[in-house]
Amino acid sequence: MKALVLCGGSGTRLRPLSHSMPKQLIPVANRPVLIQVVENLRELGVEDIGVIVGDHRGEIEAVLGDGSAHGVRVSYIVQHAPLGLAHCVRLARDFLADDDFVLYLGDTVLVGGLTEMADGFRVRRPAAQIVVHKVADPRAFGVVETDGAGRAVRLAEKPAEPRSDLAVVGVYFFTAAIHEAVAAVSPSARGELEITDAVQWLVDAGREVRVHAHTGFWRDTGRVEDVLECNRELLEALEHRISGDVDAASELIGPVVVEAGARVVRSRITGPAVIGAGALVRDSHVGPHTSVGAGCTLDAAGIADSILLAGSSVQQVLGVHGSVIGRDAAVGRGLSVGAVPQRHRLVVGDHTRVEFAA
Ligand code: TTP
Repeated sequence: MKALVLCGGSGTRLRPLSHSMPKQLIPVANRPVLIQVVENLRELGVEDIGVIVGDHRGEIEAVLGDGSAHGVRVSYIVQHAPLGLAHCVRLARDFLADDDFVLYLGDTVLVGGLTEMADGFRVRRPAAQIVVHKVADPRAFGVVETDGAGRAVRLAEKPAEPRSDLAVVGVYFFTAAIHEAVAAVSPSARGELEITDAVQWLVDAGREVRVHAHTGFWRDTGRVEDVLECNRELLEALEHRISGDVDAASELIGPVVVEAGARVVRSRITGPAVIGAGALVRDSHVGPHTSVGAGCTLDAAGIADSILLAGSSVQQVLGVHGSVIGRDAAVGRGLSVGAVPQRHRLVVGDHTRVEFAA
């Protein structure tokens, strides 16, 4: 079985982070989501992975390379505009040939269950097997109606009035039957070639489309809130490991990882939390549910439920919560201006969000 991993798209909901970094590379528990996707695929025995890339091709290639560091072979396929998931399958026709494959959205965090999904597909080989998850409000997802016996009967993309609570998760298994379907569909109202339309085409053609319900954790990193939720979930599995230096005046509570070259000085870290390689944490309180990237500096800082990307710093600011701080960004306390000590000085880029406590 091959895999097609989608890393194009525009990531509008994750601006401003996605201006300079594709959302598939956002680190969750200090590891890019895409690397976790590739490792999941490797565990399934998949060795040939096609990666659809758009504007952020260079960054994706810099991180994933030819895949050999992860035991896979990666081929890059360029998509010039985000014309839809079915468009990606069309572009990958030569790479996929007539092999079975798993289509995996590169911004998907899925915990457990993948092996059972793949085994079910390999044994039965329906034309398609789609993975679904029950959600409270399915209107933002592809939604599937089933016949109650594991077969899909109707699919709708982001319906205003959903007919079921089963949302399509970003993992699909296909035989070569999907190629005729993606060739047959036309652009939807939002101008994309929808994979849900292609799967509906298979259903209408009388082909078997199975539905597999995933009950474990699943989320895509579409919005900041989702990225933080994924971070919390993946940190829950953290195993305590101290490879860096922690001084005697510091206190570590619960599972904490301190990577090599990191220094923790006169600080309290409440796990689950990870301190990346070469980071400095001094006179600070960190965690729980916090990922501090490589080379970050925390000085007299208080931060919880947050992600600091590599090289960023927080100095002399307490109460940072539910935050994602971009690469090499600096959050600090400036000099008071004139006679007004409570002024805040901000240099804020496009689409940035800054929230002050009331
Ligand atoms: P989406 O999250 O649906 O779309 P997006 O990345 O454009 O984000 P936003 O809605 O915030 O603007 O995409 C799901 C995944 O599929 C994501 O990993 C990007 C990828 N994708 C492509 O590779 N090509 C495409 O044409 C589309 C639509 C998405």
